[in-house]
Amino acid sequence: MVYLWSVLSLGGLTAALAGLLIVSERLLVDYGVCKLDINSGEEPLEVDGGDTLLSTLYANEIFIPSACGGKGTCGHCKITVTAGGGRVLPTETPYLSRKEIRSNVRLACQVKIREDIFVRIPEELLNVQMFSSVVESVRELTYDIKEMRLRLTEPMEISHRPGQYVQIQVSSAGEPIFRAYSISSSIAEPNIVELVVRLIPGGICSTYLHSLNVGDGVNFTGPYGEFVLNEDPSVEVVCVGGGCGMAPMKNIIYSLYERWPERSCWLFFGCRTTHDIFYLEQFEKLARKHPNFHVVYAMSEKLDESEQWEGDTGFVHLSVDKCLGADVKRQAFLCGPPLMIEAVTGVLREKGLRSKDIFYDEF
Ligand SMILES: Cc1cc2nc3c(=O)[nH]c(=O)nc-3n(C[C@H](O)[C@H](O)[C@H](O)COP(=O)(O)OP(=O)(O)OC[C@H]3O[C@@H](n4cnc5c(N)ncnc54)[C@H](O)[C@@H]3O)c2cc1C
Ligand code: FES
Repeated sequence: MVYLWSVLSLGGLTAALAGLLIVSERLLVDYGVCKLDINSGEEPLEVDGGDTLLSTLYANEIFIPSACGGKGTCGHCKITVTAGGGRVLPTETPYLSRKEIRSNVRLACQVKIREDIFVRIPEELLNVQMFSSVVESVRELTYDIKEMRLRLTEPMEISHRPGQYVQIQVSSAGEPIFRAYSISSSIAEPNIVELVVRLIPGGICSTYLHSLNVGDGVNFTGPYGEFVLNEDPSVEVVCVGGGCGMAPMKNIIYSLYERWPERSCWLFFGCRTTHDIFYLEQFEKLARKHPNFHVVYAMSEKLDESEQWEGDTGFVHLSVDKCLGADVKRQAFLCGPPLMIEAVTGVLREKGLRSKDIFYDEF
């Protein structure tokens, strides 16, 4: 009991001291105006020191990916800091490889601006914009997944690559927070951003998105993401998704057949039961139009007698293994939970795919 009391007191004291340090740093330490040099620009920005690099860049309309909203738990906000960033913090090391640390890669949400700072940001990120939009339609796809189509109002068009995502901005306790959502509409609809969103119980942003009605306004930044479709039409495309991991797959598949009607492509979609099925009919219709498109949905759980299913059963990586031959020129896009990504990646590597041909987003 005495031991427990000591531990609790020590924990409380440490938390109080940490809080005091943060507050006193905010109130007492004035870092003044610092220079923020981006890509050795001729005119560095002049910014107030004391804030994080991520929020300072955001205030200057430079939008760095941040799926966790700056909490240091997603590892998405990596940029290169060539000078003025201080030492790499223990909160950063779990997300940085040794090579990245040697190359001065940092987590922008963990680096505080305390002096003049020099950063390198890829041109693509400098082109990320803030968009306003209006909800055009909302549709229930399953018991916990909704599709919502956002019509852009300012700017009125977005230019993105299939498989990229946007960051929805929502206010929580007065602070703007951001969450990543893949664009599910094809590149043929530049004035629409369609999302497929799973409701996470208690989740801030998914609850906000599920509460939207037609006519509501939504703000977001984008596009972000590393997915790059191989332009060689002889390369087969393999898409594997689970749950809301369908979103980027739909974009990739429809964008692909806009451009290459003959291209070979597989969609594998992992469900637990038939209640998780959505978009199957429209993909089957697409497959009738494009004979080189193959659709495989797989149910991983034992089905009720009332559920009618004649397709694949078992985990989706088993279907991938069964259907794909080895040593075909391919690239693959995977989206879903980490365990699914790991299992599918293993199968694809055995089929001869190299790491650089496998793109994935875990969520
Ligand atoms: C690149 C990328 C693309 C994404 N695309 C999509 C998409 O197209 N559609 C989509 O629905 N989501 C997508 N996500 C996930 C999305 O960004 C949010 O993480 C998710 O919607 C939860 O946010 P929230 O604010 O509702 O929950 P939070 O308020 O962040 O979390 C609330 C609680 O739920 C837990 N939690 C968070 N996520 C999950 C989860 N997936 N399963 C179970 N518990 C969870 C948290 O740990 C926390 O305890 C994507 C993520 C990334 C990184
Ligand atoms: S924003 Fe998530 S780790 Fe920096």
